Amino acid sequence: MMFPEDFVWGAATASYQIEGAVKEDGRGQSIWDTFSHTPGNVAGDDTGDVACDHYHRFRDDIALMRELRLAAYRFSVAWPRIQPDGAGPVNPRGLAFYDQLVDELLAAGISPYVTLYHWDLPQALEDRGGWTDRDTAARFADYAEAVHARLGDRVDNWATLNEPWVAAFLGYGNGVHAPGRRSPADALRSAHHLLLGHGLAARRLRAADARTLMLVVNSSPVLTPAQVNDPSAVPDDADAAAAHRIHALLTRQFLDPAVYGTYPREVLEAAARNGGTDHIQDGDLELINAPIDLIGVNYYNPCVVESGPGLPADAAWPGSEDVRFATADAPTTAMGWPIVPDGLSRLLVRLSQDYPQVGLMVTENGAAFDDVVQDGRVHDDERVAYLDGHLREVHRAIEAGADLRGYLVWSLLDNFEWAEGYRRRFGIVHVDYSTQERVLKDSALWYRDVIGRNGL
Ligand code: NOJ
Repeated sequence: MMFPEDFVWGAATASYQIEGAVKEDGRGQSIWDTFSHTPGNVAGDDTGDVACDHYHRFRDDIALMRELRLAAYRFSVAWPRIQPDGAGPVNPRGLAFYDQLVDELLAAGISPYVTLYHWDLPQALEDRGGWTDRDTAARFADYAEAVHARLGDRVDNWATLNEPWVAAFLGYGNGVHAPGRRSPADALRSAHHLLLGHGLAARRLRAADARTLMLVVNSSPVLTPAQVNDPSAVPDDADAAAAHRIHALLTRQFLDPAVYGTYPREVLEAAARNGGTDHIQDGDLELINAPIDLIGVNYYNPCVVESGPGLPADAAWPGSEDVRFATADAPTTAMGWPIVPDGLSRLLVRLSQDYPQVGLMVTENGAAFDDVVQDGRVHDDERVAYLDGHLREVHRAIEAGADLRGYLVWSLLDNFEWAEGYRRRFGIVHVDYSTQERVLKDSALWYRDVIGRNGL
């Protein structure tokens, strides 16, 4: 099974999850520093203070990437390294780190894919309202422009936001992520301001000649229980309506404004019932509708729903009141997430039909398992099976006509898995957090061979 000749193979990480060095070279505090240092928020009260110490070990990590023959590496820039207070003059030492990282990647023949926002908002901006405050969108565009001004001569691929749904709904809706606020109205407001930030930043980057612009979303096909194992199963009307509604709130909430300049009706209705729609100002949707080249798709598992009494009205999902989140009849990863590989092809085909003018890239896909090092090896057969199964579905989506440009595994390294801390390992490279020793898992060696032959 061969992939297209120019198919891009790579791996992804994010700043707070791997860098550590949280007090070095003038870095300011982010909402994740505050959140992880508040007891009870993160499993084991883990923090990103040291993480994978990538800030000091990036050269060694790039050597690993080279060994794995990666063509692309997606990383994120920590905003508080660039603007410690989220606004104003840039911190040259912060930019210097990413400057060296990019040079080193290019010297290794690896294309950098830069994500500008992977959730580490400067705490100073949160203190002024964070993403619930419209001004944060303007601040984000300034920051994006400053990073592009320094790296744009060497970096072709730019993503504005990573998973705005998670940033808004887990950060401001149910409080599972930083900054830990719990308000459906704040979640919807934040989602809009994240989108506005995306649109403003995308326009600035385009004006500065950024070659490829991308919005990265978490997306899942929304299925009813029967559809999980039988794609041809036809749900009854009520279940189909539930699935339609959740798809609108999860995926279309972000992609419709970005690609078409419109909000799904379900989102406006949810906002009308939760704090109102005043934060959506005239002209905003036109700004958000900045042309993008690629949709970055982060896929882990399907979302399974049926109609029925759902979460209480004040819970994390405004608009999901008459929807029941169900479990899939499928094996699960260590996160408890169902493993449904063909969910990925179903998703990619749907996105390529709904947004035909925009290309697609799988910007994250992978799984956590309880890996152990034995005699210097990690036999993570389950991860190999997971990746193999999902890559077959990527191939299937390409054959079905999806304009899919590449695949980035999540993640290069075991790292700080947000509220789950270090206990969940997503890496194809094992990290011993007491010694910072890296060990290539069997999945890494397998992936290297897949890349080498450009196929399975
Ligand atoms: C998506 C997020 O972008 C990433 O930061 C996270 O670690 C993975 N999902 C796994 O949960």
